[in-house]
Amino acid sequence: MDIAVDPEWWKTLFDEIYLLTDARSIKDSEATRREVNAVCELIPIHPEHRILDLCGGQGRHSLELCKRGYKRCTVLDYSNHLVTHGKALAASLDHPINFIQGDARSTGLSSGTFDHVLIMGNSLGYSPGIDADISILAESYRVLRRGGWLLIDVANGTNAKAFFNPNVWHEINSDILVCRQRKMNENSISTREMVISKEKGLIRDRTYSIRLYEPESLAALVEGAGFTNIRVYPDFSPHQSKEDYGFMNHRVILTGQKP
Ligand SMILES: C[S@@+](CC[C@H](N)C(=O)[O-])C[C@H]1O[C@@H](n2cnc3c(N)ncnc32)[C@H](O)[C@@H]1O
Repeated sequence: MDIAVDPEWWKTLFDEIYLLTDARSIKDSEATRREVNAVCELIPIHPEHRILDLCGGQGRHSLELCKRGYKRCTVLDYSNHLVTHGKALAASLDHPINFIQGDARSTGLSSGTFDHVLIMGNSLGYSPGIDADISILAESYRVLRRGGWLLIDVANGTNAKAFFNPNVWHEINSDILVCRQRKMNENSISTREMVISKEKGLIRDRTYSIRLYEPESLAALVEGAGFTNIRVYPDFSPHQSKEDYGFMNHRVILTGQKP
């Protein structure tokens, strides 16, 4: 079985259907709270700090940070749908979050302006080569002030291989179910995702592929981008149940500092 993937799949996948297919993670406020607890424990974050939530989607981590008094958050994401959705959410909660639609490889943000850059919820490894991730790390380094911290939270490749399941499905609600067929490659997992509405029929049939990082290869990549004081926390699981959460459980968190 081969799963053909458009290398630019990530430019169009993160829409209103993604908000359904990954709702178990991205709409689970308890999981988001656990993820933000980890941020607050692992890097020295203060309410006056400027935080860049890079590839931040609809800004769920920034919304939670803002709730806790960290009011200087910027969310940058490629998906116009998620940025628009996040802006509306933040406005409804009166949270002063700056949302930007943009490319994390070249943000256009000023150099040295952020105290922390967060890349959370498995937002690396989307392009077939490693160059896109190297560019995202170089950009994170550039926009951080000296002494600022980077925090990355991605699927742990070692765990993703150990828990690999080629066929999974789950129900979102009484109408919609998500079926995923996966293929393990040398450094990545390709997935065909079908979303089926019992009422309307097939509403999505898409493929995507995610590069896997073992804790060691992630640390080497971040070190190569110039970061120091690198620490790796290899088994972060915001979900307690044994269900298959795609790439959203058994993750690795890495922190590093711009010297
Ligand atoms: C799995 S989602 C996670 C979103 C968010 N961090 C969270 O945890 O809810 C991955 C996000 O990365 C964004 N993304 C991937 N590559 C990007 C790039 N080069 N520039 C900007 N955003 C990107 C996607 O648009 C998507 O919203």
